[in-house]
Amino acid sequence: MSSRIPLAYNPKVLELFRNPKNLGKMEDADAEALAGSIACGDMIAFYLKIDEKTQTVTAATFESYGCAANIAASSVLTEMITGKRLEEAWQISWKEISEALGGLPAVKFHCGILAVGALRRAIRTYFTGKERPGWLPEQLTPDEKHAVEEEKLIEILTRRAERIEGQEEKKGTP
Ligand code: FES
Repeated sequence: MSSRIPLAYNPKVLELFRNPKNLGKMEDADAEALAGSIACGDMIAFYLKIDEKTQTVTAATFESYGCAANIAASSVLTEMITGKRLEEAWQISWKEISEALGGLPAVKFHCGILAVGALRRAIRTYFTGKERPGWLPEQLTPDEKHAVEEEKLIEILTRRAERIEGQEEKKGTP
């Protein structure tokens, strides 16, 4: 029998986990980002279709290789940003996502942060080679730093695994 205690997800999280909105790759995205969480090692891809003239998100989709909370957070986030100007989409915090979901368990806050970080990375990517608008910070925000790029995530996880292996080898030394 499993000793794991099931997490107390509220019904909205469970509903979006089972029936996520805007799930899937967007082939003709104007901006996209693939990012992973350094807290759990899960990945997410975020895709945006953007109206260049109005700087508005006209469509958003995602792919998640994360948990139920991340799938629900990403799903609700795609709905929250559709029709919003990029500046408004940028301002959305993981706390607002959590509120929209009726609350996330504390151990799952980082799953919402991953969704925001991936969105922000996608927005930042959109402005690569373009003039940076005043509202877009020059430096990465904490959410973007949490949602690291794929290569960086692999590097971090490999280093962690090597450290753990090293500790286990030491423990095993008579
Ligand atoms: Fe990794 Fe939720 S535990 S995204």
